[in-house]
Amino acid sequence: MNSPSGPGVQPQQFFFRCIGCGDLATSAGQDFRCAKCSDLLEITYPGWRSAGPDPSHLKLAWCQRRLSQSAADLSGVWRFRELLPSLADDNEIVTLREGNTPLYELPQCSRITGVERLYAKHQGMNPTASFKDTGMTVAATFARRAGFRWVACASTGNTSASMAAYAARGGMRSLVLVPEGKISWSKLSQALDYGAVTCQLRTDFDGCLRLLQELVRRAPVYQLNSINPFRLEGQKTLAIELLEQLNWQSPDHIVVPGGNLGNSSAIGKALVEMLDLGLISRLPKLSVIQAEGANALVRTIRESGGKSLVAVQAETRATAIRIGNPASWKKAVHVLEATGGACEQVSEVEIAQAKAEIGAEGIGCEPASAVTLAGLKKLLTQGFVKRNESVVLVLTGNLLKDPDFTIDFHRGELLKENESARTSLDRLRRPPIVLDASLEAVMKTLEQAQ
Ligand code: F0G
Repeated sequence: MNSPSGPGVQPQQFFFRCIGCGDLATSAGQDFRCAKCSDLLEITYPGWRSAGPDPSHLKLAWCQRRLSQSAADLSGVWRFRELLPSLADDNEIVTLREGNTPLYELPQCSRITGVERLYAKHQGMNPTASFKDTGMTVAATFARRAGFRWVACASTGNTSASMAAYAARGGMRSLVLVPEGKISWSKLSQALDYGAVTCQLRTDFDGCLRLLQELVRRAPVYQLNSINPFRLEGQKTLAIELLEQLNWQSPDHIVVPGGNLGNSSAIGKALVEMLDLGLISRLPKLSVIQAEGANALVRTIRESGGKSLVAVQAETRATAIRIGNPASWKKAVHVLEATGGACEQVSEVEIAQAKAEIGAEGIGCEPASAVTLAGLKKLLTQGFVKRNESVVLVLTGNLLKDPDFTIDFHRGELLKENESARTSLDRLRRPPIVLDASLEAVMKTLEQAQ
């Protein structure tokens, strides 16, 4: 079936714009930085200013594509291709049917927080089980189109898993740089399985990213970190799909974890673009939550008013966001200002508790995702979020990405150094029970659990 498209719903021409000096360019160097001032680049669609796509045509075309069997329409990213960089031919797309992720209600977390309209957008339901896939399909497509044989990234695990999968699908080789001993085995196993050349470097994520920046200047490898603005264009579709699921009625708040700060930047960009195009009539407030031990954005806002980055030495069990020198901090500051969102930090205890509470809903996420619920509780206490407002938590990764955290939590091995915090969470723990293989023993356990 051909993909339906009507008047005003053709893919858009794009330019690279520097977020610092505003310079426009038709191409970008391998470091994806402005040739004049070295600031980061973003993708922009100047055509929208004179003749932007018609919002009702867009909504109809996106809806009709749900009936199509073409690869581009089956992707929950490329279904929204009018808001993405244009391709000459849909066959160029490298896809694993990413996107199309569920929006869940959270009745138990609603009771805990008192927020009646509380939802989770679960990006852990993507093909490699994290939100990275929505950006990777776009960036891998443009990498292959540019003729690159090799792609590379630095990662806390999810980017590398996703990149390795999309590189394999696109017939490219991939090089992964990860901090040794600081990423979960699940994520490492994905990169290996998908055939990446995987280097465990004796440094942290920030060290890996620094090295990658030098590498891409020397070797013909295409960088697939979120510095790459094509990644952020793909990640925008999280917000577009969310608004479609909410029948284009903006929620009052969207809450997202912050690490390297690409995802918050992408979601914020999508919200502003949707408002400009008339797809929505008001902006949700986008708030970013970090772990206390990896709180560079929180400190940047509090200590410099968002003017200059306060980098930190990062430490948290939520290893996905163990990042101290976030590349996209300026974009994230801009998004907080544009949407009126807040930036908060949460402790290791608060993260563990929130993760168990989300899990008790039958929805598994990784610790980095659980910062959203923990952060929401703080924003409620501060009065920034009101209980009668609607809130969407962005769950970025799947439970199975980091099983060690969950098992350590339930066995009581997490937070060992903080005895009172650990016992305060005892009611949430469900440790596995080792028994003799007798009916009597199992019956007794069942009775005790009533
Ligand atoms: N949640 C998860 C599960 C992540 O893997 C990441 C980042 C984030 C949140 C933070 O998103 O960096 O866009 O602010 N993971 C990266 C990686 C950095 O290499 O996988 P961000």
